Amino acid sequence: MIIDCDPGHDDAFALIVASKFAEILGVTTVAGNAPLDLTTKNARIILDICGAAGVQLHSGANRPLVAEPIHAAYIHGESGMDGATFSPPSRPVDGTDAVHFIIDTARSNPGAWLVPTGPLTNIALALRVAPDLVSTISGISLMGGGRFGNRTASAEFNIWCDPEAASAVFDSGAKIVMSGLHLTHQIMATSARIEMVRNAHATVGPKLAGLLEFFSKTYKSLHDDFEGAPLHDVCAVLALTHPQLFGASERHVAVEIDGAITRGMTVIDDRHVIARGKANTRVLETIDSDAAFSAIVEAIKACP
Ligand code: BDR
Ligand code: CA
Repeated sequence: MIIDCDPGHDDAFALIVASKFAEILGVTTVAGNAPLDLTTKNARIILDICGAAGVQLHSGANRPLVAEPIHAAYIHGESGMDGATFSPPSRPVDGTDAVHFIIDTARSNPGAWLVPTGPLTNIALALRVAPDLVSTISGISLMGGGRFGNRTASAEFNIWCDPEAASAVFDSGAKIVMSGLHLTHQIMATSARIEMVRNAHATVGPKLAGLLEFFSKTYKSLHDDFEGAPLHDVCAVLALTHPQLFGASERHVAVEIDGAITRGMTVIDDRHVIARGKANTRVLETIDSDAAFSAIVEAIKACP
């Protein structure tokens, strides 16, 4: 898989899980939770932590296609990954042209999956430049959208950040696997689970627990009924490495780009009518969250 991310606390855990259970062909970064220089620095840090410093890392788009860039310090802190102190990253980026890295890597590894866990800017640009990717890749397992929003009542953050890019990706013809909010809110970093993370690894465990404590604190301060932060982005990786943990339905999904109060909404066609839109997306509906969390802990234990 090629992981396109904006670390981001939950992106960090997605990278750790992928480094244990998947073959990472490369990591690309995009502006989202924080500006591009910070999401890229955070990716460098996490690749060190999971012993994947040799994995190719390329930075990409520093802003959405059309929308103004807006970040999420209110959730992730100013660094994009507040809550722990890390050593400076050991490795530089390998390049600053994520779009062409995605294209070249996907073409030379037929059947690869793209796994975006941030705004879809890099992915949309890659598909625009190289529409042949649609038939070269196995598909796109993304975290985004859902049956309700978080940034607005109808729009989830990753899709809301760059709705034009998201619309192009859902309409591309690629097979989409969607980890939306109605799924990711089923796997929360509760206090008990944060302790499992702390105890999973002598050095890395306490730092990762610190990340989850910060992430959960911001989530709890903004919601009236959350036990902790949802580990959104891990789901997009686990959907491929542990598909048996998920229930799903096949649906047509489109992204609203014009709505005054629905811009960035993923419109899931749940109608029972025969004339409903042809399915373009495997919408993940349920997750065995205890088993998924065990996989996360196993991945942390495998860190060097
Ligand atoms: C998504 O937005 C970011 O805050 C998270 O990293 C995740 O990708 C959830 O809406
Ligand atoms: Ca993310």
